[in-house]
Amino acid sequence: TRTIYTAGRPPWYDSTGQQVEPFIIGICGGSASGKTTVATKIIESLDVPWVTLLSMDSFYKVLNEKQHEMAAQNEYNFDHPDAFDFQLLKSTLQRLKEGRKVEVPIYNFVTHSRETRTKMMYGANVIIFEGILTFYNAEILKMCDMKVFVDTDADVRLARRLKRDISQRGRDLEGVLKQYSTMVKPAFYYYIAPSMVHADIIVPRGGENAVAIELIVQHVHTQLQLRGFKLREKLAHLYIGQPLP
Ligand code: CTP
Repeated sequence: TRTIYTAGRPPWYDSTGQQVEPFIIGICGGSASGKTTVATKIIESLDVPWVTLLSMDSFYKVLNEKQHEMAAQNEYNFDHPDAFDFQLLKSTLQRLKEGRKVEVPIYNFVTHSRETRTKMMYGANVIIFEGILTFYNAEILKMCDMKVFVDTDADVRLARRLKRDISQRGRDLEGVLKQYSTMVKPAFYYYIAPSMVHADIIVPRGGENAVAIELIVQHVHTQLQLRGFKLREKLAHLYIGQPLP
């Protein structure tokens, strides 16, 4: 296991003194499709220090009192594009792309709100950005060097979501099913599934698809090398179990 870094580092320069732009991977897919697992597996396999994982969940808008009441009744639509602060998302991604540091909100799914603390993130060599609507905004889509869609069957996603929302997000069976049938499922077919056309790679089944993850990692390595980045392959064994410098 390797330590995943989201901490700061000086920008990377190539041999001509040019700052190397980070490689941005956008990962899209339905709720509980395994986006985070795919992202984590990519990070574990990359022979690159300084990889940052940014999640769309951090950019949920702050709710007013009425919306809070609706959320408590499983009636607020968290799957509609209007639920996200795309402006903040865009500026955050832009800053990270420029190698600058950003303060990212921390989202609490139990209270449906932002925590008072924020998370500091810094520029990186590879930035992975995951969420249900990562392909929705044209400008954000343009920023992604590689677009990955995680395509997991709806029954598998619902089963996972039930387990997760009840055990980790403070929900009950009735509430999860109500929210799923009235908002999560329609939004998937209306907004998420059609955005698959933007994908460079579609990963069936999600995190367990080792071949797809290996192909993605190879592409990232090749692209970084083309940008003048030297991989750590030969040194990798030295860092196993230890933080990368
Ligand atoms: N959501 C919710 N309550 C909130 C905010 C969001 O129930 N207060 C739900 C939305 O309905 C949306 C989902 O959270 O469908 C988005 O998170 P999801 O993509 O399921 O989480 P990840 O862990 O990123 O997904 P994956 O399992 O694919 O990694």
